[in-house]
Amino acid sequence: MRVLSGVQPSGTLHLGNYFGAIQQHVELQGPPGKAEQAFYFIANYHTLTTVHDAARMRALTRDVAIDYLTLGLDPERATFFRQSDVPEVCELTWLLACCVGKGLLERAHSYKDKVQRGLEASMGLFNYPVLMAADILIYRSTVVPVGKDQQQHVEMAQDMAASFNAAFGKQVLVRPEWRFSKAAAVPGTDGTKMSKSYGNTIPIFPAPGMTEKQVFKSYFAGIKTDSKGVEEPKDPGDTLMLLYRLLDPEKAAEFEPVYVKGGVGYGEIKKRLADAYIARFMPLAEKRQTIAANESYVEGVLEDGAKRARAVAKEVMAEVRDAAGIAIARNTHA
Ligand code: TRP
Repeated sequence: MRVLSGVQPSGTLHLGNYFGAIQQHVELQGPPGKAEQAFYFIANYHTLTTVHDAARMRALTRDVAIDYLTLGLDPERATFFRQSDVPEVCELTWLLACCVGKGLLERAHSYKDKVQRGLEASMGLFNYPVLMAADILIYRSTVVPVGKDQQQHVEMAQDMAASFNAAFGKQVLVRPEWRFSKAAAVPGTDGTKMSKSYGNTIPIFPAPGMTEKQVFKSYFAGIKTDSKGVEEPKDPGDTLMLLYRLLDPEKAAEFEPVYVKGGVGYGEIKKRLADAYIARFMPLAEKRQTIAANESYVEGVLEDGAKRARAVAKEVMAEVRDAAGIAIARNTHA
């Protein structure tokens, strides 16, 4: 079994990213010493479909590496690397592109959505699912933890593996399966799905130097509720309770009967949310600063990860080239 997932470096991470993806990535790491069982990489080539600013790209890439290391990614238990450190992935993208129908890619939801929102449809954007399939298939990944929005992409990778194998009459590429996280949708402060594009996010790391009071005011006080009074029974499925269950499942379970019975106001549960958040995420803000200050550690982790990942990619790519009759001179492709 090999778990694999890619993370686009997209700026400030929020609780939706954490409970929707990162937490599961951390849980799915292998046992210590078995870092080859879980591969996680920073998908900087995918981000190139939207970010055309070198300084920003560098900063985003570095930030997400620090974020993951802070949130529990353990280099003893997972192989963590940058997508661009394995150039073979671009090579495989081409070989797959030659085996996939244009019609399949035209049906990609993410492509259609982006075009509909007026985004410039570059060839990169159109090819996005092919690069993603190459990411998955080049490491013979079997389990791909993703959010619902990426399910179709993993299914396309299944299709591409099958078409490649069929085209060349060899079982070279392995079929991957997607897996969803437990917390499929994390509500934002307005009750709709937490997402950067909706402006309803709560960051994972409170801004440096923020006091507990400020955390409450900036992130929790403004969460949208209905106008039920203190005495009225509350809905156990409302935004506040959903967030509480994510932030502190035990305390939330204890509190739920009280909440449902009535007699506690929204102010009270908002304070509890802030407390749970502070207990869990405030200490991480400091940990993050320490890791960020240790540049050579971060770079070292990514370098080790790249070496391990690339060794696998080279082997699979050699088989792929061989199946397709693509010759290369010996001792090249160092
Ligand atoms: N497209 C994914 C996202 O935006 C990121 C990604 C790139 C990925 N390559 C991948 C996820 C391979 C899983 C497997 O979230």
